[in-house]
Amino acid sequence: MFRPLSKWMEEKNSRYYQSPDTSIHGDFLTYAQSPEGLLTRAHALDFHGWAAKNEKDGYSVLEVGVGTGAFAQGFLAQLKEQDEKCGADIFSRTHYTLADFSPAMLKKAQDSMAKAGFLKNSSLCEYDAGAPIPEPALSDQMFDLIRCNELFSDLPAEMGVRRNARTGLVYYDEKMAARVEMKAKERRPDSGLGEMEESLLSHMPANYFIPFNKTAARSILNLRERLARHGRMDIFDYGFYRREDFDLPPSIWNDTIVREYGGQWTVDLNFIYLACALAEKGARSAVEEQKEYAQRFAGGPLGLDESEKEGLGYVKAGGRGRKNAADKKADGGKSMEDAKTGSERYREDDFFYHMRIEA
Ligand SMILES: C[S@@+](CC[C@H](N)C(=O)[O-])C[C@H]1O[C@@H](n2cnc3c(N)ncnc32)[C@H](O)[C@@H]1O
Repeated sequence: MFRPLSKWMEEKNSRYYQSPDTSIHGDFLTYAQSPEGLLTRAHALDFHGWAAKNEKDGYSVLEVGVGTGAFAQGFLAQLKEQDEKCGADIFSRTHYTLADFSPAMLKKAQDSMAKAGFLKNSSLCEYDAGAPIPEPALSDQMFDLIRCNELFSDLPAEMGVRRNARTGLVYYDEKMAARVEMKAKERRPDSGLGEMEESLLSHMPANYFIPFNKTAARSILNLRERLARHGRMDIFDYGFYRREDFDLPPSIWNDTIVREYGGQWTVDLNFIYLACALAEKGARSAVEEQKEYAQRFAGGPLGLDESEKEGLGYVKAGGRGRKNAADKKADGGKSMEDAKTGSERYREDDFFYHMRIEA
């Protein structure tokens, strides 16, 4: 049965993440679980600097889509270290909320936060970032920082394509086989693409499947409402933004734009679309390569960690790079442990981006 991508993602991802038997890092690797945690530590240093300039009695940080809690722990550990280094007390004034739609995942995060000694500084919140209306769970709280690592690429998205100056929708079957239905003259009411999506599609390269992460856009706008004055929201995820991201033949691109990990479906984040959808609602955002962002706070250039033993990670420059761009695109964001090919690397690039949204 061919159905819109969003329907499969909604169904499969909810089942996958809600199961107590799911072990996410058995199925894929993320930057959050890297033992050095250079990304989350860079983010903590960024926040520490912001907090020092925005003096408050208490700071509140919200993370959505927390997985095992590793992203939270690296962040809090770095805040503490930075306090010690510069004689500040930002850590003790920071409360960290871990939000996820999966009670099973929250339980795992809670256990690991307890082990790391961070329970006192944190709380848990069951929150569905894909819900059509903002969840009441957070409606009476404001945050100085909202952070998400590899959440939005898991939220339901529609897939479009342009061929011969016409646009169409891509439908998928259970095995992820794709079928394109070109648009009839009149837009179908259930076409899943609105005016902005249609217009963007007409500017995208022809024959490439283009995801429109509509639930992600709505979710980001909802979360933005929870930002305190001068607060920021930072999104780290895998996707595309630059012209050179399309340096792949459409056949490879189309085959790898949606990926399956242990029964869960992930799709690239279309940062161009997100920036437009946010701008349409008056929300300012900026996008940069994630590695560029991390190295601004790492005290020097970073490379991609080649080992991938315990997560995706960066290493201080001079370390070994990871893999070539085409391999990476074929692996797609989260990396499967057995998906390495070892072929020549022509450009060190991980296709991860950082998007910042201001209050
Ligand atoms: C790919 S994992 C990333 C986990 C962690 N941030 C990391 O990078 O290792 C996605 C996380 O988002 C959560 N998630 C997925 N869909 C969600 C939704 N609709 N609302 C809230 N959390 C969601 C999952 O339960 C899981 O914890």
